[in-house]
Amino acid sequence: MKVLVIGSGAREHALVRCLLRDPEVSEVHAAPGNAGIAADVAVHSVVADQPEAVADLAARLGTDLVVVGPEVPLVAGVTDAVKARGIACFGPSGRAAKLEGSKAFAKDVMAAAEVPTAMAVVCETRAEAEAALDRFGAPYVVKDDGLAAGKGVVVTDDRAAALEHAVACGRVVIEEYLDGPEVSLFCVTDGRVAVPLTPAQDFKRAYDGDEGPNTGGMGAYTPLPWAPDDLVGDVMARVVQPTIDEMLRRGIPFAGLLYAGLALTSRGVRVVEFNARFGDPETQAVLARLRSGLGGLLRAAATGGLAQHPEPVWQDGAAVTVVIAANGYPAAPRTGDPIGGLAEAGAVKGVEVLHAGTRLAPDGTVVSSGGRVLSVTATGEDIDEARARAYEAAGHITLDGSHYRTDIALRPR
Ligand code: AMP
Ligand code: GLY
Repeated sequence: MKVLVIGSGAREHALVRCLLRDPEVSEVHAAPGNAGIAADVAVHSVVADQPEAVADLAARLGTDLVVVGPEVPLVAGVTDAVKARGIACFGPSGRAAKLEGSKAFAKDVMAAAEVPTAMAVVCETRAEAEAALDRFGAPYVVKDDGLAAGKGVVVTDDRAAALEHAVACGRVVIEEYLDGPEVSLFCVTDGRVAVPLTPAQDFKRAYDGDEGPNTGGMGAYTPLPWAPDDLVGDVMARVVQPTIDEMLRRGIPFAGLLYAGLALTSRGVRVVEFNARFGDPETQAVLARLRSGLGGLLRAAATGGLAQHPEPVWQDGAAVTVVIAANGYPAAPRTGDPIGGLAEAGAVKGVEVLHAGTRLAPDGTVVSSGGRVLSVTATGEDIDEARARAYEAAGHITLDGSHYRTDIALRPR
């Protein structure tokens, strides 16, 4: 099987590496990729959110399966365009990706499917926003209705700041605050059957101790030793299957990766958000432990054959990912800085250095090209070992002004 991975982050680098380990996969290509991906497989330039351009590339390469990483190409309809050429594509249709693309749509689906989530109101005017803020009280949660790369959500005790965000965004969802630890559960689905991957936890805030602004994610680990034993079964039964069934009932089957972002509150599990794709950086940790073939699993989901496909097999132990972010991330990341220590970091036992915002300079050095630069991922017999390896490797990386959290998976809960 020849697979084309679309995207340019560490999530896509993890997908590429995992596909390369699958004996069913004969060839992996990526577009547009980054410096790390280009060191592993052939990369092609493409504008990922132009559906016909992606479909042209897939056809030209004679691809058997396209795997779409990010949400923007999915919402733009890349899967629809690729499938129209008769090529299997892992990722929901443009219409189904609205589950991530519009928070208001997701809330409507959850209400119809009786999926537990935060109470919420869609607001379009200042007066509506003020009424909703006062109805729910502090802490205030205000979410841009559209795609915002993990940065459209403000959680604050400051009513004025909450209102300012609502007014600046225009259309927002204002909702009840959910307390309790967060869990990311990724489910591979063909639109009818869903298969959970191993649950993970992401660290969204920029700095240690969950301080600072929300980011796209600063680190992750899996599995979750503290989670209740029935967590996955409970979420499949009460969240994932009802959502997939509701999408099918509406005539917009959701096939691809349904990412349930959950809060384990004192009153039970609640959905914080749905995403229509693999999460970043959780995927880097999750796939590091996948021992069965990824290509066959994703192809089965893309072609409606998941019921006949064997369950995924996981390596014992744990995986931890630490994100190395550029100077100024998330507000104003600086790019173009040389990155050193990549080989030393990659030589640490159990470690993979996955690239995100990197590119090759004309003189052959690897330089930063985005806010999240690397995902240093390690496996180990347990979380402590994986964590120690990931931080040992992160310590070898040199990148002027870069920062990373030092408390990823430190006190799992
Ligand atoms: P989202 O883009 O919806 O995942 O939100 C980003 C982050 O904001 C989440 O991972 C949570 O940490 C936080 N958040 C979102 N919604 C809520 C909520 N209702 N209560 C508390 N925190 C939330
Ligand atoms: N890990 C957060 C996200 O992928 O949206």
